[in-house]
Amino acid sequence: MKTVVSDLRIRPMILDDLPVVISIDRLSFPIPWSERSYRYELQQNPAAHLLVAEKIENGLAGLVGYIGYWFLIDEIHISTIAVHPEHRRGGIGRQLLEAALGHGIGLGATVATLEVRISNEAAVNLYREFGFEIVGRRRNYYRDNNEDAWLMTLEGLGAEQPEESGGVAWVRRRNSRPSPRK
Ligand SMILES: CC(C)(COP(=O)(O)OP(=O)(O)OC[C@H]1O[C@@H](n2cnc3c(N)ncnc32)[C@H](O)[C@@H]1OP(=O)(O)O)[C@@H](O)C(=O)NCCC(=O)NCCS
Repeated sequence: MKTVVSDLRIRPMILDDLPVVISIDRLSFPIPWSERSYRYELQQNPAAHLLVAEKIENGLAGLVGYIGYWFLIDEIHISTIAVHPEHRRGGIGRQLLEAALGHGIGLGATVATLEVRISNEAAVNLYREFGFEIVGRRRNYYRDNNEDAWLMTLEGLGAEQPEESGGVAWVRRRNSRPSPRK
């Protein structure tokens, strides 16, 4: 892994985070999630997990990004990930994805899946860095512009995981290898 933001803390999202999360969501997506959707994910959806990244500056924590995933049986599906535009390209997205995969492995996930706009080069590059591969194309997936989505998967998640690592060590090891294709 190249960039590590040392003053970054990743923790579970709570309801009090929603105003900032929703503002980053609006800056990041053509079809942002509503507050109601986030509340449903946090309070009612048993499969949903949401993490936030806080940057610590002068002892103060500022929320700069978040990631969501659903865990079902042996699979995590990345439902959302965004970093505030002013904080992009500093390794925060990478750390959020690493944390989500690590948590997922800890829950028993062996595969990770996601959909991404085919034009979203930043996200596709990030996912490829972790070893995600394009396995399908969903036509007209996004309702704002009928853009297609790539379906990407990462198989063999946690295969080399030591019992005590909770999965994070596996993700770190995997990411310390040369990027498969960037
Ligand atoms: C995708 C996103 C979360 C990446 O977050 P980030 O903090 O900027 O990403 P990182 O700094 O950790 O970048 C990690 C790697 O991703 C790739 N990447 C990130 N931004 C990129 C860009 N603008 N162009 C090309 N590659 C990019 C690079 O491989 C990068 O590694 P490098 O900086 O060493 O070259 C961010 O761009 C974002 O919030 N986008 C809007 C929301 C979105 O599209 N989410 C994805 C939904 S599927």
